[in-house]
Amino acid sequence: MGGPHFSQEMQDTLAWYARMRRDEPVSHDEKSGRWRVFRYADGLKVMQDPATFSNDMSEFMPDVEELTAFQKGNFQNMDMPRHRELRGLVSQAFTPRFVASLEPRIAAVTKDLLDAAEARGGTIDVVGDLAHPLPVTVIAEVMGLPKEDHPLFRKWAYALLVDNGVDAIRSEEGMAAMAPAVREMNTYLKELVQKHRAAPGEGLIADLLRAETQGMRLDDQEIVGFLGLLLIAGFLTTSALLGNAVLCLDEHPEIVDRLRKDPELLPSVVEEVLRYRSPLVWLDRRAARDTELSGHRIPKGALVSVALISAARDGDAFPDPDVFDPDRTNHRHLSFGKGAHVCLGAPLARLEARVALTELLSRYREFSVEGEKVEYHDPDGLLAPTRLPLRVHKR
Ligand code: HEM
Repeated sequence: MGGPHFSQEMQDTLAWYARMRRDEPVSHDEKSGRWRVFRYADGLKVMQDPATFSNDMSEFMPDVEELTAFQKGNFQNMDMPRHRELRGLVSQAFTPRFVASLEPRIAAVTKDLLDAAEARGGTIDVVGDLAHPLPVTVIAEVMGLPKEDHPLFRKWAYALLVDNGVDAIRSEEGMAAMAPAVREMNTYLKELVQKHRAAPGEGLIADLLRAETQGMRLDDQEIVGFLGLLLIAGFLTTSALLGNAVLCLDEHPEIVDRLRKDPELLPSVVEEVLRYRSPLVWLDRRAARDTELSGHRIPKGALVSVALISAARDGDAFPDPDVFDPDRTNHRHLSFGKGAHVCLGAPLARLEARVALTELLSRYREFSVEGEKVEYHDPDGLLAPTRLPLRVHKR
């Protein structure tokens, strides 16, 4: 079901997903109130039908001032037409060409981080030494944020995504626990935007302030919401991808050999890592009307959650789904979502993964994970290691 680097808890979760795909592919969970969707084809239907499955989750969220302010520019939680307008504006600043231009800087940061880890001596912790700081450094530089504030960004991401559990955003208690971090982030980003308004400079925020379509501009709170989204959405997920890639390579030395001879294989390896160890576990929608999914009636207003990891292991979509196989011709995983909300940062995440893996392969003639020391996130939140000690042998 899983390779050697799946915790027992995760192996059990994968076995449970397989049972649910077979026996209860669309099922209501009394405890969380969610309708859970376990098969690939159903997950795809949910993501590709935004008129029926809405991204506007405000009904489920407690009415807390901090959160409402943050939601204003968080277009991941919006539907057409506002989603398209805001995403369109932001896409003007976050273009494929802009992302590609970051490659040399991503390579330099990767080298610096590994140099620093080696200088400290002993094993490298792929998470603490590389997978955590790399995406934070890259996105912070893109946004023009100082290095000494990195710990703040980590704190906010953990508060929103990890520390308080996956459903925290939908409960009074969860929000109460999160509110201080959200407030701190809002204030920080608002000051930043105001500084840029006062003295327009270069970079992403300046571009966002200038970005305009059909006479429409983003206001400060919308920019704050979007910047918060960028800081939070791209950090732990990309860290997960980097850590997961190292776990997959450690499980498959034959693929490491092939990669050393044929670097062209790297993009396919990254896609297969995204499928085999999909970082995000759940993708949520709200039923905007009464509907039906594979014979199950889902009432208007229901919370509908696609189990991304389960969809990625669906044999009807991926032959031999439990085999890690970069030679697959079908890389149509759902790990970045699909449809109108497909991940805006996917090209950046892929680029960071390619650059980091290229550096690991060229710098070390051998590397191996200290399997018994690996630690993982809660398997209901994020499929990713939290600690990943790696023994390395330099060339
Ligand atoms: C491996 C890394 C990543 C994974 C697995 C991931 C996953 C996802 C998923 C599943 C969605 C769809 C949400 C939905 O349909 O409601 C999404 C949306 C989004 N992601 Fe990512 N993401 C990653 C990296 C990034 C990065 C690096 C950034 C930016 C720096 C980013 C920014 C966003 C944004 C802005 C959205 C909202 C798009 C929209 O609603 O139109 N993500 N991501």
